[in-house]
Amino acid sequence: MFNPTHAIVPYFPPPRILSCTPSHLPIDAAHSSEMHTVSAHSSLAFLPQAHHNAFAMQKIPVEVFPSSQDAVAKLAAETAELIRSNEAAGKQTVLGLATGGTPIAYYKELIRLHKEDGLSFANVTSFNLDEYAGLPQDHVESYWYFMHQNLFNHIDIKPENINLPSGTVADADIPAHCAEYEQKIKDAGGIDLQILGIGRTGHIGFNEPGSPKDSLTRAIELDPITREDAAPAFGGLDNVPTAAITMGCGTILAARRIVLMAWGEGKAPIVNEAVTGPVNDIVSASYLQEHANSVFYIDQAAASKLEA
Ligand code: PGA
Repeated sequence: MFNPTHAIVPYFPPPRILSCTPSHLPIDAAHSSEMHTVSAHSSLAFLPQAHHNAFAMQKIPVEVFPSSQDAVAKLAAETAELIRSNEAAGKQTVLGLATGGTPIAYYKELIRLHKEDGLSFANVTSFNLDEYAGLPQDHVESYWYFMHQNLFNHIDIKPENINLPSGTVADADIPAHCAEYEQKIKDAGGIDLQILGIGRTGHIGFNEPGSPKDSLTRAIELDPITREDAAPAFGGLDNVPTAAITMGCGTILAARRIVLMAWGEGKAPIVNEAVTGPVNDIVSASYLQEHANSVFYIDQAAASKLEA
């Protein structure tokens, strides 16, 4: 039905260079209980030359928080500041939003800021990353439904400013629908802040292994691991859609700032791969290594396999 670009590429990871632990830091500094920033870009400048590869394995700035609640509180505060400063300048804020278990607490915090702190979303335009193919908006597992249940129904965003790809466009019309989605993002001035989760396949949005760095919004076949992870919500694997419409990696990388969230031990291996591994189409989150303003906000369990 679709023509997903789902290249099967043999994967031969390059040899890893082991890093050393700088002598002035405790051995487990990267796993201390306090929130800290571990950044290949910012943490190294002050270190003596000999220690320059101390954090060389980490090629994306990573903030490890004591808990996911601490992380979402910071991200929601940042989001509120962005919205308010754009509003003061008479500008719309364009948010790129994600679905899944990961961002739910972030959305709860945004709702709290709206209800208790007067944060208005009247000047916000949103673009969601993806939607399951074949699911109408009122399907309880559609991302349209998810976003309304978990965020939009509880804030003052204007319905006309909400954008998600449609899961029910006829196959023949999908390319035009995707091109229109790209154009809408451009017309809105591009995405100011893109929120991401990460799948066990390393996908951002539904950019499964094989997704090119410059890919745009398109139909894609879901990876078996992704479908397996979705099976409980759908009451069994057979009910999980086999395809989706997703923003491409290129669409995501065009955002001015990108924050990827990950919680729990289950995400630890893929977080480490994205942050320290090679940049390639096997793990689409690895492309974030080449973005000038991307950061991972993760809890300690998700950081438990992070190589320094
Ligand atoms: P999750 O999914 O938030 O439900 O873990 C993340 C993703 O697949 O991108």
